[in-house]
Amino acid sequence: MSERIRGQAHVIPRVVSVLQRGELGLTKSTRPRGSFMFLGPTGVGKTEITLTFTEFLFGADKLARFDMSEYQTQESLGVLLGARLGERGTLGMAYDKSPSGTLLFDEIEKAHPRVLDVFLQILDAARVTMASGDTLDFSNHYIVLTSNIGAAEILHVQHSTQATMERHVLTRAQQSLRPEIFARITEKLVFNRLTYDDQLEIARLLLANELKFLREKGHELVPTDAVLPFLVRRGYHPRLGARPMRDAVEKCIGDALADFLLLGKNAGGALDVNEPHGCLVIR
Ligand SMILES: Nc1ncnc2c1ncn2[C@@H]1O[C@H](COP(=O)(O)OP(=O)(O)OP(=O)(O)O)[C@@H](O)[C@H]1O
Ligand SMILES: [Mg+2]
Repeated sequence: MSERIRGQAHVIPRVVSVLQRGELGLTKSTRPRGSFMFLGPTGVGKTEITLTFTEFLFGADKLARFDMSEYQTQESLGVLLGARLGERGTLGMAYDKSPSGTLLFDEIEKAHPRVLDVFLQILDAARVTMASGDTLDFSNHYIVLTSNIGAAEILHVQHSTQATMERHVLTRAQQSLRPEIFARITEKLVFNRLTYDDQLEIARLLLANELKFLREKGHELVPTDAVLPFLVRRGYHPRLGARPMRDAVEKCIGDALADFLLLGKNAGGALDVNEPHGCLVIR
């Protein structure tokens, strides 16, 4: 996690601690292996950290994601659990793919109260009964709930200690969620906004990963020193986290390579900045 996640050093040890207890079988067998609530602004690593530990523990395809903005109405309960006898629902289908792994529920504050009842059953008993009559056992799963509740303050308040900020966001989250759900989550963590330096580090990681990905596809690109500062200028955003940076890296390098390949060249080359055109080129 430390290799992949930047600027959230306070979060990693607390996630690790839950995972260690879960993996060593120290949690009750009637509960999920562990549960998390990740709070904080957009694009700061909440999904990325979930993906990182899930990949490490179970494999990349063992993360089942649910966007709770799609479960805002009473009818969405039927989508989740199946509406008629024999229907599996999205939760059942995720379970069928793998009886262990991670369930990630994004934007939980948007879920309909009846859907929140399902969370309560999962967190409390690790069991959910579907419309089909089958009961699913989630005791080999980690549960991650994410929300941007209170995040606006993290972005705007400049002079506040981390502890004050965390307390504030947790209070806001507790107010907008049902207290009994909040109480059953093993670890509630507030992610930081990413500083310029964090984003510079992330850009370095993203660039290295992109070059590795292209190398595996047979394209050997060697960046000049101008490439990283160019990408940071393109991708840095103080409020949207590292997502624009990821997009800038993929787009700028992808465009340069596409132009290069369409000219009929394919031997790889030096990746450089074309200042007049404001883009990257391969020479
Ligand atoms: N702390 C970080 N360290 C390294 N990379 C990061 C970090 N935060 C974000 N990224 C990069 O930005 C991308 C988007 O981040 P991520 O999906 O984790 O955002 P999020 O916090 O889940 O936001 P949202 O609340 O919108 O779901 C990731 O795929 C990753 O490439
Ligand atoms: Mg996310």
